Amino acid sequence: MAYSSCTLLLIILCFHAIEAQPLHTAKLLINASNKLGKQIPETFMGVFFEEINHAGAGGLWAELVSNRGFEAGGKNVPSNIGPWTIIGDESSIHVSTDQTSCFEHNKIALKMEVNCDSSNSCPLDGIGISNPGFWGMNIEEGKKYKVVFYVRSTSRIDLKVSFVGSNDGVKLASTNIKLGNDVNASTWRRVEHVFEAYATNHNSSLQITTNEKGVVWLDQVSAMPLDTYKGHGFRNDLFEMVAALKPRIFRFPGGCYVEGKWLRNAFRWKETIGAWENRPGHFGDVWGYWTDDGFGFFEGLQLAEDLNALPIWVFNNGFSIYEQVNISAISPFVQEVLDGIEFARGSPTSKWGSIRASMGHPKPFDLRYVAVGNEECDTQQNKFIYEGNYPKFYDAIKRAYPDIQIITNCDASKEPLNHPADLYDYHQYPKSSNYMFNLAQVFDHASRIGPKAFVSEYAMTGKESGRGNLLAAVAEAGFLIGLEKNSDLVEMVSYAPLFVNNNDQKWNPDAIVFNSHQVYGTPSYWVLSLFKESSGATFLNSTLQTNSPTLAASAISWKDSINGKSILRIKVANMESQTVNIVIFIEGLESSVHLSWPRKTVLTSSNPMDENSFSNPNMVVPRESILDYAGKIMNFQIDPLSVTLFDMTMY
Ligand SMILES: *[C@@H]1O[C@H](CO)[C@@H](O)[C@H](O)[C@H]1NC(C)=O
Ligand SMILES: *[C@@H]1O[C@H](CO)[C@@H](O)[C@H](O)[C@H]1NC(C)=O
Ligand SMILES: *[C@@H]1O[C@H](CO)[C@@H](O)[C@H](O)[C@H]1NC(C)=O
Ligand SMILES: *[C@@H]1O[C@H](CO)[C@@H](O)[C@H](O)[C@H]1NC(C)=O
Ligand SMILES: *[C@@H]1O[C@H](CO)[C@@H](O)[C@H](O)[C@H]1NC(C)=O
Repeated sequence: MAYSSCTLLLIILCFHAIEAQPLHTAKLLINASNKLGKQIPETFMGVFFEEINHAGAGGLWAELVSNRGFEAGGKNVPSNIGPWTIIGDESSIHVSTDQTSCFEHNKIALKMEVNCDSSNSCPLDGIGISNPGFWGMNIEEGKKYKVVFYVRSTSRIDLKVSFVGSNDGVKLASTNIKLGNDVNASTWRRVEHVFEAYATNHNSSLQITTNEKGVVWLDQVSAMPLDTYKGHGFRNDLFEMVAALKPRIFRFPGGCYVEGKWLRNAFRWKETIGAWENRPGHFGDVWGYWTDDGFGFFEGLQLAEDLNALPIWVFNNGFSIYEQVNISAISPFVQEVLDGIEFARGSPTSKWGSIRASMGHPKPFDLRYVAVGNEECDTQQNKFIYEGNYPKFYDAIKRAYPDIQIITNCDASKEPLNHPADLYDYHQYPKSSNYMFNLAQVFDHASRIGPKAFVSEYAMTGKESGRGNLLAAVAEAGFLIGLEKNSDLVEMVSYAPLFVNNNDQKWNPDAIVFNSHQVYGTPSYWVLSLFKESSGATFLNSTLQTNSPTLAASAISWKDSINGKSILRIKVANMESQTVNIVIFIEGLESSVHLSWPRKTVLTSSNPMDENSFSNPNMVVPRESILDYAGKIMNFQIDPLSVTLFDMTMY
């Protein structure tokens, strides 16, 4: 006992000896005079939502059934019914697919031939089919779920519909659906039932079973929790995580998802609108999974509106990763975009606007920005085709909608564009924390003439970033401070990707991690939350003097929407593994202005590799404390590897 505590002491002493490097110091000189302040754009901090990692299907979109129309295998039979499974053995049930659906865009239906009945060997609970959802449906006691499906049968219909625990078979909700003698094999019936669960299981399945002999066809089986954001179908906990970032813009639906590897698998907005039963769904071949397109073009626009963010529609411009449409054949793609804009913001009496109105949104959506494709100006050959087709889109959109802002994929930060644009995309996924941190300077010398910059995808990636750790987050905070400083040029910023379903990670790291019932933010998410007040704030003139190579700092003033008071905020990102002493001088304030209620918010942890997890979601989160002094000269210790905010109310 004594021996071991002695060695422990020695280790601690050794550790300190090694750590004793010359202390880094810094001076931050702030001139808070309004005359020198610059307004950061209102649109500055946003989010980018891509259907990757099951962000929508099996994520924010609350639909519990996966492959609800049995179409995941394509339009031909036999089709792939996975992840549906069959309950019962081969002698009692035969399941196949045919093309007899009543939905013209979704011809595949499921056919169930039942060879047993209650008096003849059917198991007590019957035989049928089961859907596990996306790695288990979250069914919670007292909550309500609406199940809708379509059915026809050769004989009378007697089905049991239940939610059951996938691992224990325990029932959580159940009902019998009986349809009488007027049933005939040629008529599809719509069945709807609202269940209230009497028990909880986060890993449940939906089962449809029978013990009536005969042939039953099923199609378009949906199960939605009634409790979604405003009833709009968005999973509440995931919606709240995004809303908490106060995003001002919402870029969607991709990303490479918009392009597809092949054009036939691209996101075609027209196939994602209207009644859900009639949406064909598609295989997103870049990220490798099927989606039923419950979260379609309309839902993306609705989500932006619900978040109070301006939608930015990234449209398919005839580009996929392996195929590019030539200029001679581009006009249908241009028309598709014009139709899409009309769908979003045309009058409710217009051709496409009337479909939006029929979906419950007669008022136009506030679509002000569109992006011509995604990451297509990267190679010489692509650049050539992209720049060839681009004017067709640009001219047609500006002619019909002069106010719409158009975003090009070609990076104008290094050389001027050869085509007109309002903004240009800028994407970066550095694999080193130093590189990420130093990207803060990338716009310092970029041209101020020409389009504004949209940093529409960035994140630190690679081994050093783990599955989203503190180190990555601090490096990104340094980058964001640089973007704030250049916000006369950088109009908008969004981290990528926003979401990951922990059961199927296609890209690492991500901002928000979830499974069927849990969610947490990675440290990168929490950095975004520290910048959410920057949109529309005033960037104050400041100069940082330091002997540390990896320290960044800035000052803004922002208005607290609750009490209307102005708040002076200082941000410091310290990538050093040691404490930095900083002295802050605040000048240029009018003599009548007082600084009060000083508080500090720190994002840090004991190890750069520390991450959050389902079991420890709050390991690396901002922690706020009240300080006892605010004044025009202040001295602080900045923690090793940290992001620190100082807020002081000015009155
Ligand atoms: C859900 O239950 C199934 C069946 O027992 C099991 O294979 C699966 O791993 C479970 N999933 C989760 C997320 O626990
Ligand atoms: C099937 O049922 C529908 C509706 O009950 C009825 O209109 C139709 O005539 C019936 N068809 C046959 C072949 O019985
Ligand atoms: C575009 O043109 C090239 C050369 O004329 C041709 O090889 C290619 O197949 C065309 N691509 C498409 C998608 O039409
Ligand atoms: C601060 O103001 C000075 C004097 O106008 C100017 O030279 C400097 O570039 C400004 N710094 C920033 C970060 O805006
Ligand atoms: C702060 O900026 C204002 C406006 O440019 C200037 O008049 C003042 O001298 C500056 N104060 C300091 C201490 O640099």
